[in-house]
Amino acid sequence: MTARLISIAEAPREALEAAIAELAAGRPIAMPTETVYGLAADATNPAAITRIYETKGRPRFNPLIAHVADLGMARIHARFDPLSEKLAHAFWPGPLTLILPLRPDSGIHDLATSGLDTVGLRVPQGFAGEIIRAFGKPLAAPSANTSGGISPTSATHVMEDLGEKIGLVLDGGASDVGVESTIVKVEADGRLRLLRPGGIPAEEIERVAGKPLERPEKAGAAIEAPGMLASHYAPDAAMRLQAEAPLEGEAYLAFGPRPVPDREKAVFFDNLSPAGNLAEAAARLFAAMKAADRSGATMIAVAPIPGHGLGEAINDRLERAAAPRA
Ligand code: TXA
Ligand code: MG
Repeated sequence: MTARLISIAEAPREALEAAIAELAAGRPIAMPTETVYGLAADATNPAAITRIYETKGRPRFNPLIAHVADLGMARIHARFDPLSEKLAHAFWPGPLTLILPLRPDSGIHDLATSGLDTVGLRVPQGFAGEIIRAFGKPLAAPSANTSGGISPTSATHVMEDLGEKIGLVLDGGASDVGVESTIVKVEADGRLRLLRPGGIPAEEIERVAGKPLERPEKAGAAIEAPGMLASHYAPDAAMRLQAEAPLEGEAYLAFGPRPVPDREKAVFFDNLSPAGNLAEAAARLFAAMKAADRSGATMIAVAPIPGHGLGEAINDRLERAAAPRA
């Protein structure tokens, strides 16, 4: 079996109908979101959720984000405190996931939440929102890639990785944001915690919240967002970060206008953003990592990337890609 590939721009109605048919039959589909492509299935259907885990080879203790059409639909499934509500108003639809207390009568299945009493909710932009609205139920959707690998930012990435395992891939072009959503949780005592840096810079969230985001403790801390285990987003090649220049035979990912010394030593060279723009670098990051990996180099060296704004998510993904493999 090879997945049917439908272009949303060319055939939006066909794309929507095919998506609804697959979802109603309990089968996962790959759909674009503004962050990365998601592998989406009915969050209330245990067989459908099981197929997501099987398709990705994902550990069952790692809960999925439930995607909803709007704040009204979100309220059916979770209880909102005032600060979470404020953040939802400010950033939805968009790349923000809120961890909230799950309503007992939500209908979102335990398999999607890994049995936690909380749920991660997000309202995606664009066609994904239309699919959810038409389907009428939340969609559980992790990134549409084999667990531990690099998240897909194009339909081609999904076809290469999962094309033989699923029935439908919707092509919405290259993902706008390019890194996954920012995950935050408001604790009962009002503290605001960052569980995963992502497509909305922490500074923007802090500005709306009027308080600082507490960063997760490093290694050894209890698994709060289990997907945030060290090794993730891993290419086949090893990674060398903060590299000012390539060594002989490396693939090299540059950033910004600075001329790169010894550029000719690299067997593969790309610049994530010649202008030094972090949004552009985030949007291009995963495709560039995949291309560097395909070059056959055994080491991918990456230039220093500033840590502010979207740079926090970029550096987080690079560090996970560089982490020792299980
Ligand atoms: O941008 C995104 O968020 C993409 C697109 C497809 O929406 N999705 C995505 O899903 O990145 P995934 O499954 O790769 O990452 C979900 C993360 C995991 O780290 C998981 O542990 C965490 O969310 N998570 C989900 N529910 C949680 C909960 N109740 N408490 C804490 N962490 C949770
Ligand atoms: Mg993922």
